[in-house]
Amino acid sequence: MRSALVVPAAGRGDRLGAARPKALVALAGVPLLVHAVRRAAASGVIDVVVVVAPAGACDEVAGSLRPLLPDVVVVPGGAERQDSVRLGLDALPDDVDVVLVHDAARCLTPPAVFAAVVSAVRAGAPAVIPVLPVSDTVKRVAGDQVVETVERAELVAVQTPQGFDRSALQAAHAAAAPGAAATDDAGMLEALGHPVLTVPGHDHAFKVTRPLDLLLAHALLAAEATS
Ligand code: C5P
Repeated sequence: MRSALVVPAAGRGDRLGAARPKALVALAGVPLLVHAVRRAAASGVIDVVVVVAPAGACDEVAGSLRPLLPDVVVVPGGAERQDSVRLGLDALPDDVDVVLVHDAARCLTPPAVFAAVVSAVRAGAPAVIPVLPVSDTVKRVAGDQVVETVERAELVAVQTPQGFDRSALQAAHAAAAPGAAATDDAGMLEALGHPVLTVPGHDHAFKVTRPLDLLLAHALLAAEATS
């Protein structure tokens, strides 16, 4: 049986303010998506890659990835991230039993994180997520009024790749309300009562969301190039 990577990369990325869909924004001359897939492939634990591309950009995406992965499958995405992931799952070959879902926007996630997630799923966890401690104090608010301060020691920030037993993930997507916009696949399994295991995330797995994140990503790449 094989492990697959599904990469939702069909978002517009409005918060980044770029003219292009976020996954196609260049970082050191290379699209974010290509950085993300390169690092996943370097883990050595991924057999199949399905990229969910912005509608209208499938040929461009396939062209940018084929030199790296001749067998990459590229399908057009949907309105919400959840729709895009489901469309990616629909394109998986039958012999895949472990699925990693990884945001293209977490383009500098180190290969070791992919390996740790696949290993935990293969060891029997139906759902595995990389997490980091939260450094800011977090409060619940209503409008501009604080309702409560949440106990920080109990909180983690959740990253991708998130890893799953394929049939559990597909069942969760099938059970999800159409149009319900889950921001996280593990949450859909939680809703069905599956245990979700955490593994250590990595600082470099941050999501490129705002212009400041692109500056950070540039700096990290430059530091890698000189180390
Ligand atoms: O918008 P956000 O940063 O949460 O998106 C996370 C990931 O989901 C990004 O890689 C984005 O391209 C992808 N996405 C998608 N289809 C959508 C919305 C987001 O593939 N409709």
